[in-house]
Amino acid sequence: MKEINNNERADVLVHALPYIQQFQRKTIVVKYGGNAMINEELKAAVIQDVILMSCVGVRTVMVHGGGPEIESLLRSVGKESRFIDGLRYTDEETMEIVQMVLCGKVNKNIVSLIERQGGKAMGICGIDGGLLKAKRISETDLGLVGEIESVNTAILDALIDRDMIPVIASVAVEEASGCSLNINADTAAARIAASLGAEKLILMTDVHGVLHDVYDSDSLIRVLPKEQIPSLKAAGVISKGMLPKLDCCSFALNAGVRRAHIIDGRLPHALLVELFTDEGVGTMIE
Ligand code: ARG
Repeated sequence: MKEINNNERADVLVHALPYIQQFQRKTIVVKYGGNAMINEELKAAVIQDVILMSCVGVRTVMVHGGGPEIESLLRSVGKESRFIDGLRYTDEETMEIVQMVLCGKVNKNIVSLIERQGGKAMGICGIDGGLLKAKRISETDLGLVGEIESVNTAILDALIDRDMIPVIASVAVEEASGCSLNINADTAAARIAASLGAEKLILMTDVHGVLHDVYDSDSLIRVLPKEQIPSLKAAGVISKGMLPKLDCCSFALNAGVRRAHIIDGRLPHALLVELFTDEGVGTMIE
């Protein structure tokens, strides 16, 4: 790492000042996932980033998925997965494991890391306080997989008002049955950002952002007006895994979130660079 002198350190802080002022008391929802969740060094960097955000007055909310941990526990208990059109069917037994891993292991691990680095965090899932109410996805029968119908934002506001970072595992409750439903973490983050009237939704991924040419990492689209999304889809520029991510971003923006960002979680401190520099690291959709 390049050493910088103390004046340069001061310059870095001064450069961040307008953004700190701009984002103070604003809500930023971060979907944490991918490589940044597996690699220990990246994990530590993300934790530092969200603590710093919260320290400078950003109302920071973290939403996470399960990473590869769900798959590995399913395998170690010998649970056979059934796939429908490439998507996992979540039966009751699978849902129990999803809940154990997401709300137990992964969620508490993130909270513990934040607390150990001097931050304050509270780990919850959508069941706690009725935070996330959902219904089963109707088009395809994937079992206990849901889409969010309502977000109890009062709980999140209460935590944030006490300077805590809510760390949310994307499991929701089905009102009618009381069943737990598995929710895609990107869509959960988008719904939560929309309900909170957030300033930003930030999706951490394992790609640079939206690229003009997927084979050319220099072709990153840094700023993407949301009106251009349909034509980029039609032209095939946005395809595969990027499609649902951009749908989440569009949803959030249409619901009043000011900006959505898709950033590369493989880069250390991607969150801080995106938020507190002019250029950022990823794709900013507005
Ligand atoms: N830091 C500024 C913000 O968060 C600008 C980020 C620009 N990022 C980009 N990918 N063009 O609003």
